[in-house]
Amino acid sequence: MRPLIRSACRLRARVRAMATLPAAAAFSPSSASAAARPPRLPLARLFLPSAPPAAARGARSLRTSAAAAAAAAVEVGGVKIAREDVVKEEDPTNNVPDPIYSKIGLQLHRSGNHPLGILKNTIYDYFDKNFSGKFNKFDDLCPLVSVKQNFDDVLVPADHVSRSYNDTYYVDAQTVLRCHTSAHQAELLRDGHTHFLVTGDVYRRDSIDSTHYPVFHQMEGFRVFSPDDWSDSGMDGTAYAAADLKKTLEGLARHLFGAVEMRWVDTYFPFTNPSFELEIYFQDDWLEVLGCGVTEQEILKSNGRTDHVAWAFGLGLERLSMVLFDIPDIRLFWSNDQRFTSQFSEGKLGVKFKPFSKFPPCYKDMSFWINEEFTENNLCEVVRGIAGDLVEEVKLIDNFTNKKGMTSHCYRIAYRSMERSLTDEEINDMQWNVREEVKNKLKVELR
Ligand code: PHE
Repeated sequence: MRPLIRSACRLRARVRAMATLPAAAAFSPSSASAAARPPRLPLARLFLPSAPPAAARGARSLRTSAAAAAAAAVEVGGVKIAREDVVKEEDPTNNVPDPIYSKIGLQLHRSGNHPLGILKNTIYDYFDKNFSGKFNKFDDLCPLVSVKQNFDDVLVPADHVSRSYNDTYYVDAQTVLRCHTSAHQAELLRDGHTHFLVTGDVYRRDSIDSTHYPVFHQMEGFRVFSPDDWSDSGMDGTAYAAADLKKTLEGLARHLFGAVEMRWVDTYFPFTNPSFELEIYFQDDWLEVLGCGVTEQEILKSNGRTDHVAWAFGLGLERLSMVLFDIPDIRLFWSNDQRFTSQFSEGKLGVKFKPFSKFPPCYKDMSFWINEEFTENNLCEVVRGIAGDLVEEVKLIDNFTNKKGMTSHCYRIAYRSMERSLTDEEINDMQWNVREEVKNKLKVELR
């Protein structure tokens, strides 16, 4: 899963950070220490929605649909959410743009014919069968959560990078769009649950490529043990929980994949110790699909389970689905194109997706002198704000510092629709608008 941390994965895979599913920006120690910094409020100002530029046709229609979605309030888990509850243009502590608001309430994981819904139900089947229905399931919890729920309750340190405005969508200083389903662990424990699965949409500011999207879906699993469970095993509680966790997840992987190459990697999460990631071999690379571990005692103690132990996992539904269904690009999960949606149906896990077309990408490069505030996530937010899902990748291709100490970045933007051919005119329009907004919002000097 995209670790809540953007870690060294990117370096491993393509110099990207992720300790999380899609993304997972993550909670790895390396990213935490290297990038930790307090939230930088002024960044939020960068994303004041502006009047739509005289933009390309494709971009215009995306904007229109985002605006239409933004007009009506949505309801999630009994909570009504209106645009003005989430997008606060005048509030410097808010950094949620309209395209993100427009995703709230879509709940792709609750559609039985969608790859994410099919996967969710298959995982439910595994737990129902192996734990005789003991796991309680939640898939409709509101994604607006407090900073306390998202970070404090799961022991994320005050200076952890995942708390920054660069990584997380803040509605205001106390409220975020959850960046992981672990945000619900504490409240469910307090409510007395000992076995639960939480599925939901999660939100992370991120860079752009085929496996990263700022909204994706996770499933959290949590199981509590009492001393009676492990007393006869000859193990201590932690060792017992760790062994049960690995056995459970290896069983799940076999249930989903049959034979697949996988490996366990030791890692760090603030809320578990020991912590592990499971990686699966996909498209010539190791893909992190899940983070897990034995829950920190403090979380159990604070929530009414002193003397117990527990395990937890968080898995990235998009990443698993991409492997299972051969879906080559994470943007496809959001597609309403019949040629995509009609290929999947309830209960049919692992039907291989047949690409209906391969339209050519179009590459545009842009170079600029960066300033101290510049981050790749901010750049990607601007590009996505203009091009929506027509942008396939934003990649740093050149980086140098001159004698005066000025640093120049060159980014290559790949534009490609999964549904149609783009015209030169609309790509040129989009690129023009991207350049203007990058210059105006990020205050960088174009070269
Ligand atoms: N919340 C972690 C992430 O999003 C995943 C995780 C969940 C790890 C539970 C351990 C235990 O990266």
